[in-house]
Amino acid sequence: MSDIISQDIKQYSESFYRLIDKHTGICLDASKDYLVASRLAPIAKRHGFTHYEMLLKHLFLIPLGEVHWECFEAMTINETMFFRDIHPFETIKNHILPKIIQKNQTKKSLNIWCAAASTGQEPYSLSMLIKDTFPELDSWKVFILATDICDLALKKAMNGIYNVTEMSRGLSPIQIEKNFTKLENGSWQINSDVKKNIVFQRQNLVEEWSIQPKFDLILLRNVLIYFKPDTKIIVFNKLFDQFADDDSYLLLGSSEFILYENKYTMLKHDRMTYYHRTKV
Ligand SMILES: C[S@@+](CC[C@H](N)C(=O)[O-])C[C@H]1O[C@@H](n2cnc3c(N)ncnc32)[C@H](O)[C@@H]1O
Repeated sequence: MSDIISQDIKQYSESFYRLIDKHTGICLDASKDYLVASRLAPIAKRHGFTHYEMLLKHLFLIPLGEVHWECFEAMTINETMFFRDIHPFETIKNHILPKIIQKNQTKKSLNIWCAAASTGQEPYSLSMLIKDTFPELDSWKVFILATDICDLALKKAMNGIYNVTEMSRGLSPIQIEKNFTKLENGSWQINSDVKKNIVFQRQNLVEEWSIQPKFDLILLRNVLIYFKPDTKIIVFNKLFDQFADDDSYLLLGSSEFILYENKYTMLKHDRMTYYHRTKV
């Protein structure tokens, strides 16, 4: 392509990066050009464009709509696994849930929000942990809200069907035996007693939230790494009002931290860092 066309492409890519940042919080730059090219090429083909660059130009020329969202979703990284990083789940089991159970003894309810749930392994891990470790919660009202921006990921999460590779990441044979049913094609389906407390719902963290109820525990793991510092602060500020009380907890991904923010207090147990709202 000539230099002039390359100049145009640069302009369309930059405008795409600005758009995706504005509408999803996902922050990209020229170092991710290769990723954009590989993720958008199939969409370009489906829409009849011979090059992904032509799709970028098209996005630039039309009002925000379905094609943009198709491209935004294609740029999400849905990497996840059952009991990812294991330590957070140990901390939830040994420290966080016992405290919440004590706190909510009278109302006998437990509300958890997985705020970037991807294809469902995280909320299902929580539900398995609760079912297999805290049988006393059988008689409680346990509610897990699992949200994500990506409809495709949510659809897979709702189906609750995982292939052999996905099952081999994070699950023990006993957990599989207790919580999944093998299908004829060799995949595994999550059992209804693990699924019954979970509601899957689309929620974009950078749009207005209509999230109910208030939560005893919020997991916001491995999504803020894609956001700019300003966007992270906006999300933390909005999260503040989603907790049931000051004894509710927030877990981030293993490389994510709340820095310079006195609204939240950092707690540590073993190798885990987590947060609650600062008590005034
Ligand atoms: C790497 S996955 C993390 C999944 C899971 N929390 C974990 O730690 O295994 C990141 C998820 O964040 C979602 N995501 C990205 N931007 C988002 C936004 N603005 N609002 C809600 N979810 C978003 C992506 O669709 C993706 O499923």
